[in-house]
Amino acid sequence: MQELRIIGGRSLRGSVQISGAKNAALPALAACLLTNQTTTLSNMPDVKDVGSMCALLEALGARISRVNDSISVDTSNVDRHNAPHELVRKMRASVLVMGPLLARFGMAEVALPGGCTIGNRPIDLHIAAMKKLGADATLIKGDTHLTASTLKGARIYFDRPTVTGTENVMMAATAADGETLLENAAREPEVVDLAELLVKMGANISGAGTDTIRVIGGQLMKGATHEIISDRIEAGTYAVSAAMTGGIVTLTHMNPRMISSLLEKMRSAGCKVVETDTTVTISGLPPFKPVDISTAEYPGFPTDLQAQFMAMMCLADGEAVITENIFEDRFKHVPELNRLGAEIVIRGRSAFVRGVKNLLGAIVTASDLRASASLVLAGLAAQDETRILRIYHLDRGYYRMEKKLSALGADIGRIDGEGP
Ligand code: UD1
Repeated sequence: MQELRIIGGRSLRGSVQISGAKNAALPALAACLLTNQTTTLSNMPDVKDVGSMCALLEALGARISRVNDSISVDTSNVDRHNAPHELVRKMRASVLVMGPLLARFGMAEVALPGGCTIGNRPIDLHIAAMKKLGADATLIKGDTHLTASTLKGARIYFDRPTVTGTENVMMAATAADGETLLENAAREPEVVDLAELLVKMGANISGAGTDTIRVIGGQLMKGATHEIISDRIEAGTYAVSAAMTGGIVTLTHMNPRMISSLLEKMRSAGCKVVETDTTVTISGLPPFKPVDISTAEYPGFPTDLQAQFMAMMCLADGEAVITENIFEDRFKHVPELNRLGAEIVIRGRSAFVRGVKNLLGAIVTASDLRASASLVLAGLAAQDETRILRIYHLDRGYYRMEKKLSALGADIGRIDGEGP
Protein backbone atom coordinates (compact mmCIF):
# COMPACT_ATOMS: atom_id res chain seq x y z
CA MET A 1 0.00 0.00 0.00
CA GLN A 2 1.34 3.42 -0.90
CA GLU A 3 2.30 6.09 1.64
CA LEU A 4 3.41 9.67 1.51
CA ARG A 5 6.74 10.54 3.05
CA ILE A 6 7.39 14.17 3.89
CA ILE A 7 10.48 15.79 5.33
CA GLY A 8 9.02 18.95 6.83
CA GLY A 9 10.43 22.41 7.27
CA ARG A 10 10.86 23.59 3.68
CA SER A 11 9.26 26.93 2.77
CA LEU A 12 7.05 26.64 -0.31
CA ARG A 13 7.69 29.14 -3.09
CA GLY A 14 6.44 29.61 -6.62
CA SER A 15 3.13 29.23 -8.38
CA VAL A 16 0.70 26.37 -8.67
CA GLN A 17 -2.06 25.88 -11.23
CA ILE A 18 -5.39 24.99 -9.67
CA SER A 19 -7.24 22.12 -11.36
CA GLY A 20 -10.91 21.84 -12.27
CA ALA A 21 -13.28 21.30 -9.36
CA LYS A 22 -14.01 17.68 -8.52
CA ASN A 23 -17.35 18.69 -7.02
CA ALA A 24 -18.36 20.44 -10.24
CA ALA A 25 -17.01 17.67 -12.48
CA LEU A 26 -19.09 14.92 -10.82
CA PRO A 27 -22.56 16.48 -11.31
CA ALA A 28 -21.54 17.61 -14.83
CA LEU A 29 -20.72 14.00 -15.76
CA ALA A 30 -24.07 12.85 -14.34
CA ALA A 31 -25.84 15.58 -16.33
CA CYS A 32 -24.57 14.01 -19.57
CA LEU A 33 -27.19 11.28 -18.99
CA LEU A 34 -29.96 13.83 -19.64
CA THR A 35 -29.38 13.71 -23.40
CA ASN A 36 -28.71 11.04 -26.01
CA GLN A 37 -26.12 13.30 -27.66
CA THR A 38 -22.45 13.75 -26.83
CA THR A 39 -21.37 16.26 -24.18
CA THR A 40 -17.77 17.43 -23.85
CA LEU A 41 -16.45 18.72 -20.54
CA SER A 42 -13.06 20.43 -20.28
CA ASN A 43 -10.79 21.36 -17.33
CA MET A 44 -11.70 17.99 -15.82
CA PRO A 45 -9.45 17.04 -12.89
CA ASP A 46 -7.72 13.67 -13.26
CA VAL A 47 -8.72 12.40 -9.81
CA LYS A 48 -10.08 9.03 -8.68
CA ASP A 49 -13.65 10.20 -8.04
CA VAL A 50 -13.92 11.44 -11.62
CA GLY A 51 -12.67 8.02 -12.77
CA SER A 52 -15.29 6.33 -10.56
CA MET A 53 -18.09 8.47 -12.03
CA CYS A 54 -16.87 7.68 -15.57
CA ALA A 55 -16.88 3.97 -14.66
CA LEU A 56 -20.46 4.30 -13.42
CA LEU A 57 -21.54 6.02 -16.65
CA GLU A 58 -19.83 3.27 -18.65
CA ALA A 59 -21.63 0.62 -16.58
CA LEU A 60 -24.89 2.34 -17.56
CA GLY A 61 -23.91 2.06 -21.25
CA ALA A 62 -22.20 5.40 -21.97
CA ARG A 63 -19.04 5.68 -24.09
CA ILE A 64 -16.31 7.87 -22.67
CA SER A 65 -13.32 9.35 -24.44
CA ARG A 66 -10.58 11.51 -22.98
CA VAL A 67 -8.25 14.00 -24.68
CA ASN A 68 -5.94 15.89 -22.31
CA ASP A 69 -8.21 17.45 -19.68
CA SER A 70 -11.40 16.98 -21.72
CA ILE A 71 -13.87 14.14 -21.32
CA SER A 72 -16.55 13.44 -23.95
CA VAL A 73 -19.55 11.37 -22.94
CA ASP A 74 -21.65 9.69 -25.61
CA THR A 75 -24.86 8.59 -23.93
CA SER A 76 -26.74 7.37 -27.01
CA ASN A 77 -26.52 3.72 -25.88
CA VAL A 78 -27.36 4.13 -22.20
CA ASP A 79 -29.86 1.41 -21.32
CA ARG A 80 -29.37 0.68 -17.62
CA HIS A 81 -30.68 2.61 -14.64
CA ASN A 82 -28.86 1.53 -11.52
CA ALA A 83 -26.09 2.86 -9.30
CA PRO A 84 -25.00 -0.23 -7.31
CA HIS A 85 -23.98 -0.26 -3.66
CA GLU A 86 -20.27 -0.98 -4.33
CA LEU A 87 -20.02 2.35 -6.14
CA VAL A 88 -22.28 4.47 -3.96
CA ARG A 89 -20.46 3.20 -0.86
CA LYS A 90 -17.10 4.12 -2.39
CA MET A 91 -18.26 7.47 -3.71
CA ARG A 92 -21.42 8.99 -2.33
CA ALA A 93 -21.70 11.40 -5.27
CA SER A 94 -22.78 8.38 -7.37
CA VAL A 95 -26.30 9.27 -6.19
CA LEU A 96 -26.10 12.16 -8.68
CA VAL A 97 -27.21 9.82 -11.47
CA MET A 98 -30.63 9.50 -9.80
CA GLY A 99 -32.07 12.78 -11.12
CA PRO A 100 -30.83 12.40 -14.71
CA LEU A 101 -31.92 8.73 -15.00
CA LEU A 102 -35.37 9.54 -13.65
CA ALA A 103 -35.62 12.47 -16.08
CA ARG A 104 -34.57 10.49 -19.14
CA PHE A 105 -36.00 7.01 -18.50
CA GLY A 106 -38.63 7.49 -15.79
CA MET A 107 -36.71 5.06 -13.58
CA ALA A 108 -33.61 4.94 -11.40
CA GLU A 109 -32.26 2.45 -8.88
CA VAL A 110 -29.79 3.94 -6.45
CA ALA A 111 -28.31 2.19 -3.42
CA LEU A 112 -28.72 3.99 -0.11
CA PRO A 113 -25.25 5.28 0.76
CA GLY A 114 -25.15 4.10 4.38
CA GLY A 115 -22.75 5.63 6.92
CA CYS A 116 -19.40 7.10 5.99
CA THR A 117 -16.37 8.29 7.92
CA ILE A 118 -17.62 11.86 8.31
CA GLY A 119 -20.99 10.82 9.67
CA ASN A 120 -24.38 9.53 8.69
CA ARG A 121 -25.09 11.11 5.31
CA PRO A 122 -28.64 10.25 4.28
CA ILE A 123 -30.27 11.06 0.93
CA ASP A 124 -33.77 11.47 2.38
CA LEU A 125 -34.03 15.04 1.05
CA HIS A 126 -33.17 13.89 -2.49
CA ILE A 127 -35.83 11.18 -2.36
CA ALA A 128 -38.52 13.37 -0.77
CA ALA A 129 -37.99 15.93 -3.55
CA MET A 130 -38.23 13.28 -6.29
CA LYS A 131 -41.53 12.16 -4.77
CA LYS A 132 -42.77 15.75 -4.91
CA LEU A 133 -41.98 15.70 -8.62
CA GLY A 134 -44.29 12.68 -8.91
CA ALA A 135 -41.90 9.72 -8.56
CA ASP A 136 -42.78 6.58 -6.59
CA ALA A 137 -39.97 5.38 -4.34
CA THR A 138 -39.63 1.86 -2.93
CA LEU A 139 -36.75 0.48 -0.92
CA ILE A 140 -35.78 -3.01 -2.16
CA LYS A 141 -32.79 -4.74 -0.57
CA GLY A 142 -31.08 -1.47 0.29
CA ASP A 143 -31.67 0.13 -3.11
CA THR A 144 -34.18 2.90 -3.69
CA HIS A 145 -36.22 2.16 -6.81
CA LEU A 146 -37.72 5.31 -8.28
CA THR A 147 -40.26 5.26 -11.08
CA ALA A 148 -42.36 7.94 -12.71
CA SER A 149 -44.47 7.79 -15.87
CA THR A 150 -44.31 11.59 -16.00
CA LEU A 151 -42.67 14.13 -13.74
CA LYS A 152 -44.63 17.25 -12.77
CA GLY A 153 -43.17 20.56 -11.64
CA ALA A 154 -43.55 21.23 -7.92
CA ARG A 155 -42.54 23.56 -5.12
CA ILE A 156 -39.77 21.92 -3.12
CA TYR A 157 -38.51 23.31 0.16
CA PHE A 158 -35.30 21.67 1.42
CA ASP A 159 -35.28 21.28 5.22
CA ARG A 160 -31.61 22.12 5.00
CA PRO A 161 -29.53 23.16 2.00
CA THR A 162 -28.00 20.12 0.36
CA VAL A 163 -25.47 20.49 -2.45
CA THR A 164 -25.90 17.20 -4.32
CA GLY A 165 -29.61 17.19 -3.40
CA THR A 166 -30.09 20.57 -5.10
CA GLU A 167 -28.11 19.32 -8.12
CA ASN A 168 -30.04 16.06 -8.35
CA VAL A 169 -33.42 17.78 -8.21
CA MET A 170 -32.39 20.53 -10.64
CA MET A 171 -31.48 17.81 -13.15
CA ALA A 172 -34.71 15.82 -12.61
CA ALA A 173 -36.79 19.00 -12.89
CA THR A 174 -35.51 19.65 -16.43
CA ALA A 175 -37.88 16.83 -17.51
CA ALA A 176 -40.85 17.82 -15.31
CA ASP A 177 -43.89 19.48 -16.86
CA GLY A 178 -44.16 23.13 -15.85
CA GLU A 179 -42.35 25.05 -13.15
CA THR A 180 -40.29 23.62 -10.29
CA LEU A 181 -39.22 25.95 -7.49
CA LEU A 182 -36.33 24.81 -5.28
CA GLU A 183 -36.42 26.76 -2.03
CA ASN A 184 -33.64 26.85 0.58
CA ALA A 185 -31.45 25.52 -2.24
CA ALA A 186 -27.66 25.22 -1.94
CA ARG A 187 -25.80 28.28 -3.28
CA GLU A 188 -22.38 26.68 -3.85
CA PRO A 189 -20.45 27.73 -7.00
CA GLU A 190 -20.62 24.10 -8.15
CA VAL A 191 -24.43 24.33 -8.24
CA VAL A 192 -24.12 27.45 -10.41
CA ASP A 193 -21.65 25.69 -12.72
CA LEU A 194 -24.05 22.78 -13.17
CA ALA A 195 -26.94 25.17 -13.91
CA GLU A 196 -24.79 26.84 -16.59
CA LEU A 197 -24.09 23.48 -18.21
CA LEU A 198 -27.79 22.51 -18.08
CA VAL A 199 -28.78 25.81 -19.72
CA LYS A 200 -26.25 25.10 -22.51
CA MET A 201 -27.91 21.69 -22.91
CA GLY A 202 -31.28 23.40 -23.42
CA ALA A 203 -32.74 23.72 -19.91
CA ASN A 204 -34.59 26.79 -18.65
CA ILE A 205 -33.11 27.53 -15.21
CA SER A 206 -32.81 30.78 -13.28
CA GLY A 207 -31.75 31.72 -9.77
CA ALA A 208 -28.80 29.32 -9.34
CA GLY A 209 -26.46 30.86 -6.77
CA THR A 210 -29.42 32.15 -4.72
CA ASP A 211 -31.55 30.11 -2.33
CA THR A 212 -34.44 29.92 -4.82
CA ILE A 213 -33.92 28.17 -8.14
CA ARG A 214 -36.62 28.09 -10.82
CA VAL A 215 -36.66 25.36 -13.47
CA ILE A 216 -39.17 25.32 -16.32
CA GLY A 217 -39.06 21.72 -17.46
CA GLY A 218 -39.84 19.89 -20.66
CA GLN A 219 -37.15 21.18 -23.03
CA LEU A 220 -35.37 18.70 -25.28
CA MET A 221 -31.88 18.29 -23.79
CA LYS A 222 -28.99 18.20 -26.24
CA GLY A 223 -25.23 17.77 -26.14
CA ALA A 224 -23.04 20.75 -25.17
CA THR A 225 -19.45 21.74 -24.41
CA HIS A 226 -18.56 23.20 -21.05
CA GLU A 227 -15.47 24.18 -19.07
CA ILE A 228 -15.55 23.16 -15.41
CA ILE A 229 -14.80 25.86 -12.78
CA SER A 230 -11.62 25.73 -10.71
CA ASP A 231 -11.42 23.78 -7.48
CA ARG A 232 -11.86 26.19 -4.56
CA ILE A 233 -11.01 23.48 -2.02
CA GLU A 234 -7.76 22.58 -3.76
CA ALA A 235 -6.96 26.31 -3.95
CA GLY A 236 -7.67 26.74 -0.26
CA THR A 237 -5.45 23.79 0.61
CA TYR A 238 -2.45 25.25 -1.24
CA ALA A 239 -3.14 28.68 0.28
CA VAL A 240 -2.76 27.15 3.74
CA SER A 241 0.37 25.23 2.67
CA ALA A 242 2.09 28.51 1.77
CA ALA A 243 1.35 30.08 5.14
CA MET A 244 2.17 27.03 7.26
CA THR A 245 5.62 26.66 5.74
CA GLY A 246 6.48 30.36 5.96
CA GLY A 247 6.47 30.54 2.17
CA ILE A 248 4.97 32.60 -0.62
CA VAL A 249 2.82 30.92 -3.25
CA THR A 250 0.71 32.21 -6.14
CA LEU A 251 -2.37 30.17 -7.04
CA THR A 252 -3.30 30.53 -10.71
CA HIS A 253 -6.31 29.60 -12.90
CA MET A 254 -8.73 30.16 -10.03
CA ASN A 255 -11.30 32.58 -8.70
CA PRO A 256 -10.29 34.17 -5.36
CA ARG A 257 -13.89 35.25 -4.67
CA MET A 258 -14.83 31.59 -4.25
CA ILE A 259 -12.56 31.31 -1.21
CA SER A 260 -13.23 34.74 0.32
CA SER A 261 -14.29 33.18 3.63
CA LEU A 262 -10.92 31.39 3.95
CA LEU A 263 -8.82 34.34 2.72
CA GLU A 264 -10.46 36.68 5.27
CA LYS A 265 -9.64 34.25 8.08
CA MET A 266 -6.06 33.91 6.79
CA ARG A 267 -5.70 37.71 6.83
CA SER A 268 -7.01 37.76 10.40
CA ALA A 269 -4.40 35.11 11.28
CA GLY A 270 -1.68 37.47 10.04
CA CYS A 271 -1.11 36.21 6.48
CA LYS A 272 -0.63 38.50 3.50
CA VAL A 273 -3.09 37.89 0.69
CA VAL A 274 -2.96 39.65 -2.69
CA GLU A 275 -5.79 38.95 -5.13
CA THR A 276 -6.30 39.51 -8.85
CA ASP A 277 -9.28 38.26 -10.89
CA THR A 278 -7.70 34.85 -11.50
CA THR A 279 -4.82 34.52 -9.03
CA VAL A 280 -4.07 34.95 -5.38
CA THR A 281 -0.66 35.23 -3.73
CA ILE A 282 -0.37 34.13 -0.12
CA SER A 283 2.48 34.49 2.30
CA GLY A 284 2.57 33.84 6.01
CA LEU A 285 4.74 32.76 8.87
CA PRO A 286 3.88 30.88 12.07
CA PRO A 287 3.02 31.64 14.82
CA PHE A 288 -0.41 32.74 13.57
CA LYS A 289 -2.93 34.79 15.45
CA PRO A 290 -5.59 32.38 16.73
CA VAL A 291 -8.77 32.67 14.66
CA ASP A 292 -12.05 30.85 15.32
CA ILE A 293 -14.04 29.38 12.47
CA SER A 294 -17.49 27.90 12.23
CA THR A 295 -18.36 25.92 9.09
CA ALA A 296 -21.47 26.87 7.14
CA GLU A 297 -23.06 26.54 3.73
CA TYR A 298 -21.61 28.76 0.99
CA PRO A 299 -20.64 31.59 1.20
CA GLY A 300 -19.74 30.61 4.78
CA PHE A 301 -16.54 28.81 5.74
CA PRO A 302 -16.52 25.46 3.84
CA THR A 303 -16.56 22.24 5.83
CA ASP A 304 -14.16 20.89 3.17
CA LEU A 305 -11.48 23.36 4.39
CA GLN A 306 -12.10 22.87 8.12
CA ALA A 307 -9.39 20.22 8.61
CA GLN A 308 -6.80 22.23 6.67
CA PHE A 309 -7.48 25.41 8.65
CA MET A 310 -7.28 23.41 11.86
CA ALA A 311 -3.80 22.24 10.85
CA MET A 312 -2.82 25.90 10.47
CA MET A 313 -4.25 26.83 13.88
CA CYS A 314 -2.06 24.13 15.45
CA LEU A 315 0.73 26.69 14.97
CA ALA A 316 -1.19 29.65 16.45
CA ASP A 317 -0.07 31.76 19.32
CA GLY A 318 -3.08 30.95 21.56
CA GLU A 319 -6.34 28.99 21.32
CA ALA A 320 -8.66 28.79 18.31
CA VAL A 321 -12.12 27.22 18.34
CA ILE A 322 -13.12 25.29 15.23
CA THR A 323 -16.82 24.46 15.05
CA GLU A 324 -18.18 21.94 12.55
CA ASN A 325 -21.85 22.52 11.71
CA ILE A 326 -22.31 20.54 8.48
CA PHE A 327 -21.24 16.98 9.33
CA GLU A 328 -21.55 15.44 12.79
CA ASP A 329 -18.35 13.38 12.79
CA ARG A 330 -15.78 15.34 10.87
CA PHE A 331 -12.92 15.49 13.37
CA LYS A 332 -11.16 12.22 12.48
CA HIS A 333 -7.98 14.20 11.77
CA VAL A 334 -7.77 15.44 15.38
CA PRO A 335 -6.09 12.40 16.99
CA GLU A 336 -3.70 12.21 14.03
CA LEU A 337 -2.76 15.90 14.30
CA ASN A 338 -2.22 15.31 18.02
CA ARG A 339 0.22 12.52 17.11
CA LEU A 340 2.24 15.23 15.35
CA GLY A 341 2.37 17.24 18.57
CA ALA A 342 -0.79 19.34 18.24
CA GLU A 343 -2.90 20.03 21.33
CA ILE A 344 -6.53 19.67 20.31
CA VAL A 345 -9.48 18.70 22.46
CA ILE A 346 -12.94 17.97 21.05
CA ARG A 347 -16.06 19.06 22.94
CA GLY A 348 -19.29 18.40 21.08
CA ARG A 349 -19.27 20.10 17.71
CA SER A 350 -16.15 22.16 18.51
CA ALA A 351 -12.45 21.46 18.55
CA PHE A 352 -10.33 23.61 20.86
CA VAL A 353 -6.92 24.01 19.28
CA ARG A 354 -4.19 25.26 21.57
CA GLY A 355 -1.33 26.39 19.37
CA VAL A 356 2.12 24.84 19.82
CA LYS A 357 5.56 26.14 18.77
CA ASN A 358 6.45 23.16 16.59
CA LEU A 359 4.95 20.00 15.19
CA LEU A 360 7.12 16.89 15.10
CA GLY A 361 6.93 14.28 12.32
CA ALA A 362 5.30 10.90 13.01
CA ILE A 363 3.41 8.09 11.28
CA VAL A 364 -0.22 9.09 10.82
CA THR A 365 -3.23 7.56 9.10
CA ALA A 366 -5.56 9.38 6.73
CA SER A 367 -9.26 8.77 7.36
CA ASP A 368 -10.99 10.76 4.62
CA LEU A 369 -10.20 13.08 1.76
CA ARG A 370 -9.90 16.45 3.52
CA ALA A 371 -8.47 14.93 6.72
CA SER A 372 -5.65 13.56 4.54
CA ALA A 373 -4.96 17.03 3.21
CA SER A 374 -4.67 18.44 6.73
CA LEU A 375 -2.10 15.77 7.60
CA VAL A 376 -0.05 16.64 4.51
CA LEU A 377 -0.09 20.31 5.53
CA ALA A 378 0.93 19.49 9.09
CA GLY A 379 3.69 17.20 7.76
CA LEU A 380 5.05 19.99 5.55
CA ALA A 381 5.36 22.26 8.59
CA ALA A 382 6.57 19.58 11.04
CA GLN A 383 10.18 18.88 11.91
CA ASP A 384 11.67 15.64 10.59
CA GLU A 385 9.84 12.88 8.77
CA THR A 386 6.09 12.34 8.56
CA ARG A 387 4.62 9.26 6.92
CA ILE A 388 0.97 9.29 5.93
CA LEU A 389 -0.77 5.95 5.50
CA ARG A 390 -3.94 5.27 3.47
CA ILE A 391 -3.31 8.07 1.02
CA TYR A 392 -5.79 6.61 -1.44
CA HIS A 393 -8.25 9.04 0.17
CA LEU A 394 -6.11 11.91 -1.09
CA ASP A 395 -6.12 10.60 -4.65
CA ARG A 396 -9.92 10.79 -4.69
CA GLY A 397 -9.85 14.56 -4.84
CA TYR A 398 -6.37 16.04 -5.36
CA TYR A 399 -4.66 15.90 -8.73
CA ARG A 400 -0.96 15.03 -8.31
CA MET A 401 -0.72 16.68 -4.92
CA GLU A 402 2.82 15.55 -4.16
CA LYS A 403 4.00 16.63 -7.62
CA LYS A 404 2.48 20.08 -7.22
CA LEU A 405 3.99 20.42 -3.74
CA SER A 406 7.42 19.17 -4.91
CA ALA A 407 7.39 21.80 -7.65
CA LEU A 408 6.89 24.40 -4.89
CA GLY A 409 9.97 23.07 -3.07
CA ALA A 410 8.47 20.53 -0.67
CA ASP A 411 10.39 17.36 0.17
CA ILE A 412 7.56 14.90 -0.40
CA GLY A 413 7.28 11.58 -2.19
CA ARG A 414 5.18 8.49 -2.58
CA ILE A 415 6.65 5.24 -1.39
CA ASP A 416 5.47 1.64 -1.26
CA GLY A 417 4.98 1.03 2.42
CA GLU A 418 3.99 -1.96 4.49
CA GLY A 419 0.48 -0.60 4.86
CA PRO A 420 -1.57 0.02 7.98
C1 UD1 B 1 -21.29 18.07 -0.96
C2 UD1 B 1 -19.84 17.95 -1.39
C3 UD1 B 1 -18.95 17.71 -0.18
C4 UD1 B 1 -19.17 18.79 0.87
C5 UD1 B 1 -20.66 18.94 1.19
C6 UD1 B 1 -20.94 20.12 2.10
C7 UD1 B 1 -20.04 17.05 -3.62
C8 UD1 B 1 -19.83 15.87 -4.51
N1 UD1 B 1 -19.74 16.85 -2.33
O1 UD1 B 1 -21.66 16.83 -0.36
O2 UD1 B 1 -17.59 17.74 -0.61
O3 UD1 B 1 -18.49 18.45 2.06
O4 UD1 B 1 -21.41 19.13 -0.03
O5 UD1 B 1 -20.48 21.29 1.54
O6 UD1 B 1 -20.42 18.11 -4.04
N2 UD1 B 1 -28.32 15.85 4.39
C9 UD1 B 1 -29.42 15.19 4.86
N3 UD1 B 1 -30.26 14.58 3.96
C10 UD1 B 1 -30.03 14.61 2.61
C11 UD1 B 1 -28.90 15.29 2.14
C12 UD1 B 1 -28.06 15.90 3.05
O7 UD1 B 1 -29.66 15.14 6.07
O8 UD1 B 1 -30.83 14.04 1.86
C13 UD1 B 1 -27.39 16.51 5.34
C14 UD1 B 1 -26.00 15.89 5.33
O9 UD1 B 1 -25.91 14.74 6.12
C15 UD1 B 1 -25.15 17.04 5.83
C16 UD1 B 1 -25.87 18.27 5.23
O10 UD1 B 1 -27.20 17.83 4.91
O11 UD1 B 1 -25.22 17.08 7.23
C17 UD1 B 1 -25.23 18.85 4.01
O12 UD1 B 1 -24.90 17.81 3.12
P1 UD1 B 1 -24.88 17.98 1.54
O13 UD1 B 1 -24.81 19.42 1.16
O14 UD1 B 1 -25.97 17.17 0.97
O15 UD1 B 1 -23.51 17.29 1.19
P2 UD1 B 1 -23.19 16.50 -0.13
O16 UD1 B 1 -24.00 17.06 -1.23
O17 UD1 B 1 -23.25 15.05 0.13
